[in-house]
Amino acid sequence: MKILFAASEVFPFAKTGGLADVAGSLPVVLHELGHDVRVVMPKYRCVAPAGPDLVDTGARIPVRIGDAIAVGALFEGRLAGRVPVYFVRYDPYFDRDGLYGTAEGDYPDNASRFIFFSRAILDTMQGLDFWPDVLHLNDWQCALAALYLKTYTGVGRYEQVASLLTIHNLGYQGLFWHYDMPLTGLGWEYFTPEGIEFYGKINFLKAGLISADLLSTVSRKYAREIQTEPFGFGLDGVLRKRAHDLFGVLNGVDYAQWNPADDPHLPERYGPEDLAGKAACKRELLKRFGLAQRMGRPLIGCVSRLTAQKGFDLIAAVGPALAQMNVGLVVLGDGDEKIRNELTTLAHRYPRHVGIRIAYDDSLAHLIEAGADFFLMPSRYEPCGLNQMYSLRYGTIPIVRGTGGLDDTIVSFNRHTGTGNGFKFFTYSPQRLLRAVRRALSIYDDRPRFTRLVHNAMSCDFSWMRSAQEYEKLYDRLLRRGAKRKQTR
Ligand code: ADP
Ligand code: GLC
Repeated sequence: MKILFAASEVFPFAKTGGLADVAGSLPVVLHELGHDVRVVMPKYRCVAPAGPDLVDTGARIPVRIGDAIAVGALFEGRLAGRVPVYFVRYDPYFDRDGLYGTAEGDYPDNASRFIFFSRAILDTMQGLDFWPDVLHLNDWQCALAALYLKTYTGVGRYEQVASLLTIHNLGYQGLFWHYDMPLTGLGWEYFTPEGIEFYGKINFLKAGLISADLLSTVSRKYAREIQTEPFGFGLDGVLRKRAHDLFGVLNGVDYAQWNPADDPHLPERYGPEDLAGKAACKRELLKRFGLAQRMGRPLIGCVSRLTAQKGFDLIAAVGPALAQMNVGLVVLGDGDEKIRNELTTLAHRYPRHVGIRIAYDDSLAHLIEAGADFFLMPSRYEPCGLNQMYSLRYGTIPIVRGTGGLDDTIVSFNRHTGTGNGFKFFTYSPQRLLRAVRRALSIYDDRPRFTRLVHNAMSCDFSWMRSAQEYEKLYDRLLRRGAKRKQTR
């Protein structure tokens, strides 16, 4: 199959969160399965400048923004040395420090930037004469492309292209005021409740939800949750209407990046047969955060974007209790100012037990995965979550709230049967979180059981192959539909 995979961030070129990890791994596995898959993303400032790794294809695409034309240049690079990646270069929009904004907030012209990108995805097909069977779109930043695809009739071979939109996080929809409508190039007839209007605004994600041939999200549980009011962010009705076209495919882990036996970021490597290296990682981690904790005391780690989604109000609430129990806590994250301040205050109050690093630091993220005993993810909602799966491979036991992908991947440890890979609570409250932590600590103090738990965790396999095969099935379904459509024409 020919697949064009579009995303606004792709690791290692640009990353703010899990989407980049997915976009950097899934296409490579699809390529291994024998598909002609290519990736398209914007050329941000952080993407290496044109050089031996990035070549100018010479193709120029005229992209319509309102009444104007912005000419994008297509550069080509390779993902994992083999999958072609097309970088759309248009410096006025993408030659900036951030991907979506600055510490002060989103860029004010994000509507134009991602209208541009969504159209550029389609214009790339024409510009390079590459006509995929499947256009795989991800999140609001490229969701409009699904709608444009329906309007590009009579030109090129767009009518043969089927689309799949994957929702990585319904909390981000790309909402813009209605004055931006002319920029989209879509007539006002699209600005209706059945169309892309959403409480008086334009909703880019909704454009994709109503137009893509199939929809998916990143875990089965989240696929069900988003059809309900508490998780739907106002779009649950739209999703219920498309329930038959909506699938949950769990993300995978790129074990070439996340494997303690072969991780260049660690002071010592280790595997399930010999955990000595893990102790060295813990020692290093305590040192880096300047914690006065003994090696024998439990250490909880957390690596996350600092947003309300991730449950930091619960972490702040249980912080003092953790310190009183002589449990260490290290957090690496960046984002929301209020959360930054709350965590910093906690670290100042409990300098022996709590360490906070406000930064984006890939290397430190790996060290926390390896050096902590437990990994905390008390999310309000979590479409999939990758860190709990990374933790498992590092023998670092997840303590999670049972929502979305966290519920699908973590099974509470049963002290009687010795089964399970972590600890889970459901009700969103500090008391319930604390109860889960207490359960975890009681197993930590029971060495034979804890060793068993660590082995259970490390033997979990969430490699991408299984997920990629599920995507293959969705692509197949799209092709079969296309064939049927042709027959009935
Ligand atoms: P989300 O996409 O909602 O942020 P995921 O769990 O899917 O959550 O993915 C988060 C990814 O981003 C992981 O690879 C994690 O290690 C990384 N990450 C998040 N915050 C930081 C940070 N401050 N420094 C380094 N890596 C981070
Ligand atoms: C989103 C979600 C996260 C998911 C990631 C990759 O950012 O918040 O749960 O793992 O996308 O799909």
